Amino acid sequence: MISSFTQSAKPINGSHVVHRRSSPAPIRPFSCPPPLPALKPQGFVLCMKNALHISSVSNFGPLRTRKSDLVTRKAYEADRSHPIESNVELTVAEARTEAAKKVKIGLYFALWWGLNVVFNIYNKKVLNAFPYPWLTSTLSLAVGSLIMLVSWMTRIADAPNTDFEFWKSLFPVAVAHTIGHVAATVSMSKVAVSFTHIIKSGEPAFSVLVSRFLLGETFPVPVYLSLLPIIGGCALAAVTELNFNMTGFMGAMISNLAFVFRNIFSKKGMKGKAVSGMNYYACLSILSLLILTPFAIAVEGPQMWAAGWKTAVSQNGPNFVWWVAAQSVFYHLYNQVSYMSLDEISPLTFSIGNTMKRISVIVSAIIIFRTPVQPVNALGAAIAVLGTFLYSQAKQ
Ligand code: 3PG
Repeated sequence: MISSFTQSAKPINGSHVVHRRSSPAPIRPFSCPPPLPALKPQGFVLCMKNALHISSVSNFGPLRTRKSDLVTRKAYEADRSHPIESNVELTVAEARTEAAKKVKIGLYFALWWGLNVVFNIYNKKVLNAFPYPWLTSTLSLAVGSLIMLVSWMTRIADAPNTDFEFWKSLFPVAVAHTIGHVAATVSMSKVAVSFTHIIKSGEPAFSVLVSRFLLGETFPVPVYLSLLPIIGGCALAAVTELNFNMTGFMGAMISNLAFVFRNIFSKKGMKGKAVSGMNYYACLSILSLLILTPFAIAVEGPQMWAAGWKTAVSQNGPNFVWWVAAQSVFYHLYNQVSYMSLDEISPLTFSIGNTMKRISVIVSAIIIFRTPVQPVNALGAAIAVLGTFLYSQAKQ
């Protein structure tokens, strides 16, 4: 068992509480070890079957079950990196905390999906009127960066405490985020929003292939099998797409690949760093903005933008400016909420949430933009999304 507690500056090793590497007698589920003399727990009952890692302990002094004294604990099996269900007997206060946490996560998910749907709709409206995806991608990062800089300066949000190492480790994440963002926006400027997201539901396939062939990771057979419906479904949806466009297709594929690398670099770079999800995404936006701006100028440039802007405003009136503002603000908000929920949930729950998000985006975009869909095309999309769900299950 790996556990360590901290009381003031003096560390107390968790092995003083319970240390059972291999128990000679079989451990019954939910059985409690006898109270240990060293700690004399008063109202503190810890029953466990699995090895526990205690993440942090607040006021680990008199060991009373006051709410403020509750142990913030996450249970990890020795060979897993994400929390598993522990057999910790919950006190009433803890059960309430758990319920409140579930409500909070539910709210994050609902917000994340809702904000994402709104972003996708305004983004497409803007791209239909103003087909300059490099500028619109830049604007969404710029508005997000501005929102966060103002929040830090006015102390609405606490500014993160970062150092050179932090920004260095963030750099590859920002490069991947920038490529993934521009590529998805280019894709949406060429094809239906629903099609981009159907192809983007194939992201797990990229994740497994990159991890297998570049990082040498292996997965259980069901994970590989779940890739068949993902790849087959995406392929079926692509060949039956009425408005297929190669740039649109490739944009979504590149975005998938870039986001897989973003996740890999992000995992490596963030180990042991104490920056909240909200601030992490804010820093990512700022760095991505710095990376993207010169490329956006080189690829499209102010002359094209000025002419395109004039046309868009003359055709759509001042509404167009609101659409641009909405797509930029909602882009930042949905990403911020998604990073905030990553703080609270495992990467696996996150990926299931992301799949559900794609379903809401695909369905609402088809309804709002009246996208023509053939039955066989819808079948391909459904198979791909189902495959992504099976993948999430197989990875558990
Ligand atoms: C973007 O513009 O970055 C994409 O729309 C992102 O898509 P995702 O967050 O749904 O993967």
